[in-house]
Amino acid sequence: MRNSYNVQLAQGSRYVFKATKITGNLYNMNCCVTGLQWGDEGKGKVVDILADKSDVVVRYAGGANAGHTVVVGDTKFALHLMPSGAVRNGVECVIGNGVVMDPEIFIQEIENLQCKNISMEGRLFISENAHTVLSYHKLEDALREKALGKDKIGTTIRGIGPCYSDKIGRSYAIRMADFRNLDELYQKLVKIVAYKNKLFAALYNAEPIDVDQVFESCKVYADKLCKYITNTTKKLHYAINAGKSLLFEGAQGALLDLDHGTFPFVTSSNASALGMAAGCGVPTKNVDRFIGVIKSYTTRVGAGPFPTEQDNEIGQLIRDKGNEYGTTTGRPRRCGWFDGVVVKYSATIGGIDELAMMHLDTLSGMKEIKVCGSYIIDGVETDFFPSDAHELSKVKCVYETVPGWDEDLSDVKDFESLPANARAYVATVERVTGVPVTIIGVGPKRSQTIFRT
Ligand code: GDP
Ligand code: IMO
Ligand code: MG
Repeated sequence: MRNSYNVQLAQGSRYVFKATKITGNLYNMNCCVTGLQWGDEGKGKVVDILADKSDVVVRYAGGANAGHTVVVGDTKFALHLMPSGAVRNGVECVIGNGVVMDPEIFIQEIENLQCKNISMEGRLFISENAHTVLSYHKLEDALREKALGKDKIGTTIRGIGPCYSDKIGRSYAIRMADFRNLDELYQKLVKIVAYKNKLFAALYNAEPIDVDQVFESCKVYADKLCKYITNTTKKLHYAINAGKSLLFEGAQGALLDLDHGTFPFVTSSNASALGMAAGCGVPTKNVDRFIGVIKSYTTRVGAGPFPTEQDNEIGQLIRDKGNEYGTTTGRPRRCGWFDGVVVKYSATIGGIDELAMMHLDTLSGMKEIKVCGSYIIDGVETDFFPSDAHELSKVKCVYETVPGWDEDLSDVKDFESLPANARAYVATVERVTGVPVTIIGVGPKRSQTIFRT
């Protein structure tokens, strides 16, 4: 049990560090874990570790575009929709209303877990208000990306944008509750498929889709998933009243947030911590700690601005060492130096109390490491991330260079045992972001994690 909290920021911090609310038992509280970069920061690993002391793990945004890796012994799980707490048998798992549910992928996940003797029976709860991703959403995603050509967003083609568009548009949407009444569902699908067919033919000259085929799949989904569909907002508030410990699992990262990220190269949900309350019906005042997950460098998949990108041998080195290939699509991730402007921004808008920094081990062997602490835009230095794409395209990064270290970190168990330069690097990240680093990853395994408390 850890009951004190004492992380000293490096001297000379330009930012006032907001005191966290942390008192008492680290685990007997409600935490929200979110990504502070462009996704793939290592949220799955952090959630899996914290789930050990949680009663309920809640996914609240995104869909099967997410790929959260959890490593348990020699077994690796790549979870797309299932909360990362699922691998721990006693933990309840909730899919909140903010998630767009792909039943096909989700059923596959339940079955894959079952094959590994992990049963979701009696501990899985899907919001009746969560919207449903069906085959025509994935088709629409693919058709649109193809039509955009060089202007494409580089989506995961998991139907995310089209499903959220239908949610916002309201008239052509299916929610999980609709699986409870197949006759009404069929009537809705007739209307939706007719609309989509007109749209796809006009815009993309596409072949029509068959409503009966879509409906046949839905019957299978209903059969397998209806028992899990419920009022999850009620479930979560009852859990809070019963004194249970909740863990909220973000998907994607703050810079992919629809409103606050690098629009239009974002996903279609509020992927920052700001999406948590709306995505599950629990207000932020019920969250004791907001933990922002970062990598010790930066990665991005898909198109869009990336100021610290190293499209060179340094980027390739990070990609090779960090195994930076997408969990969902297998695409090579773009890699670059740590961007403190990005993380300071995402920590600020997300009310982040502390950072979990993954992949410190990946930087071993670098002679020098660069950290971006500010940008120059039109000759003016700023440390506040610009939200306008045009401004962002003009950014020149201001780097400070710090010495690297050669030692392999993968067996280091406590902060004091890290090489001095690795500790100094952590201090640099704290200084440029203004947020303390309390958890450090030195490898993908649970045991390869350092807690600074
Ligand atoms: P998520 O989407 O944020 O859950 O992250 P992903 O699972 O997509 O990508 C993170 C990758 O880094 C996964 O392959 C993890 O197993 C791996 N990983 C997590 N933490 C560490 C770490 O501290 N060091 C190393 N080397 N790998 C890590
Ligand atoms: P996790 O939860 C990294 C990116 C896609 C693309 C953009 C839009 O594993 O961190 P979408 O399919 O959502 O319409 O694609 O967002 N993207 C992610 N990148 N990690 C993710 O999730 C992502 N989810 C979406 O690559 O650039
Ligand atoms: Mg991922």
